[in-house]
This record gives sequence, structure tokens and C-alpha cells, in this order.
Amino acid sequence: MESRQRLEQIVASIEYTPTGIQGIDELLEGKGLPKGSVVFVVGGPGSGKTTLGLQFLCHGPSVNENGVYISLDESLESVIRNSATVGLNVGQLYKEGKLSLIDASPIVSVQGEIAASKFLRSAESGLTSLMQRVEAATRTNVSRLVVDSLATLILQFPNDAERRLAVKGILETIRPIKCTTFLISELSHSTIDREYQFEEYLAEGVFVMRAINKPGVALQTFTVEKMRGVDHDKRPHPYKIGSNGIEVFPTEVADY
Ligand SMILES: Nc1ncnc2c1ncn2[C@@H]1O[C@H](COP(=O)(O)OP(=O)(O)O)[C@@H](O)[C@H]1O
Ligand SMILES: [Mg+2]
Repeated sequence: MESRQRLEQIVASIEYTPTGIQGIDELLEGKGLPKGSVVFVVGGPGSGKTTLGLQFLCHGPSVNENGVYISLDESLESVIRNSATVGLNVGQLYKEGKLSLIDASPIVSVQGEIAASKFLRSAESGLTSLMQRVEAATRTNVSRLVVDSLATLILQFPNDAERRLAVKGILETIRPIKCTTFLISELSHSTIDREYQFEEYLAEGVFVMRAINKPGVALQTFTVEKMRGVDHDKRPHPYKIGSNGIEVFPTEVADY
């Protein structure tokens, strides 16, 4: 058993890193994320997950943290173009060598009808390939990592048991790298009631981005559902996407 003194040393040595996303650090005791933690970012299509991930990476260099963005869904050209419309200097940081952009989309582009066993093999090799890329990309001095998104790859596995193993494998690859990581995941329907996905138990944190569409209410909310090591706010807060990226309003609470 570890001594009390040793545990106290561990507590004192936890370092935090600001996400740099407007309003989110305020929900995280003003400190941000414990360095090296893995956060699942869950939300529907168009909710701003990619923007959130890029914003986190773009803030990195200002606190001496270089980043890696791995795209599984979107071409890098589209990522760079779209980031400009939300005021992010992705292209500039890339040129300066402070942000690596990796196109991993070929590993999930399975075409046509494939027999189930072949499908699984393709998913497995896709997973191996993703993990190799993550390892290669983070060998240099990198502190922030975003994988966008895991959904397409994970859904290639034919059943829940396989999917769980795949997510577990990804987390086991990422943990030793010690980067503060956003793993972007999809929410199939933007419901208010949401069951925890298995993978979210394994990660230190879960951020949820929801669209609330009720008669008379059109609102997007951001919630820190879980963040180990931080006494975080747990309520849904409105957010907007604009030419300065995502802004969460920490003093406003949406009770829908
Ligand atoms: N300058 C802007 N002002 C307002 N909304 C924007 C702007 N640029 C992009 N958006 C919105 O941001 C959303 C795209 O966000 P994105 O991060 O790609 O979402 P996701 O990755 O969750 O699919 C789109 O719904 C788009 O309408
Ligand atoms: Mg996206």
C-alpha cells in the first residue's frame, strides 16, 4: 500500500492545462484539464465537435503545448478551410510546426458489400493502423492530441463486445503517451436522455454537446458530464459557434 505522504505528493504534483475554449475552463474550477487526461467529446453532427477539438489544439502553443490532429472523417483540406471560418489559425500553426495534421481517413474507407469476417478483419487492421499513426505522430514533443472521430472506425466492428475491445485498445495505446486527449465520438440522436456508452467509463472525462429542439426552443448546450480530478460544474450551459469559434456561457444554465 502506498503511504499517505506518497499519495499527498501525487495530489500536489497533478498539473492542469487550460483548454483555452471560451467558458469551458470556468466550468473546470478555472484550472482546465489534468494534464494527460483523456476526454470523450460526444455530440450530434454539426454540433461543433471538430471546432472544439481544433480550438483546444490551437490554444496549445500559447502554453507551450504542441498538438496532433488525426482526422478519420474529413479531408485535411476541408478541416483547414472550415477552421478559418471559425477564426482558427490551423494553417499557420501547421506551417510553424506547432500542430501536426494527419489524414487517417483511408483507414476507414471500406467500400461495397463485404462479408462479415472480412469486414471484421478490415476493422481490425484499421484499428492497428490508427494506433500506429498515433504512436508515430506523438514521438516528438507533443502534449495535445485529438482523434476525430472514432465513430466510423468503431462502428465497423460487428458487435458490442468487439467495439468495447477496440475502444479499450485505443485507450491503452493513448494512455502511455501522456498527451491531454480529446477523443471525438458521435451521438446518434440528440436526445436529452442519454445512456452512458461503455467507453465513457474508461475515460477520465466526458463532454456532451447537445442540440435542444423543442417547440419554441432552439438551443445548443455544453455539459461537462464527467472529469476526474476536477470539481467541475455538471449543468448544461448554452454555447454558440461563431467567427471566434465556440463560446460556452458558464454563468447561464439551460434547464431543459
Ligand atoms: N462562422 C460560423 N458562424 C456560425 N456557425 C458556424 C460558423 N462556421 C461554422 N459554423 C457551424 O459550425 C458547425 C460545424 O461544426 P463542426 O465542428 O464541424 O461540427 P461536428 O464536428 O460536430 O460535425 C456547422 O453546423 C456550421 O453551421
Ligand atoms: Mg466533425
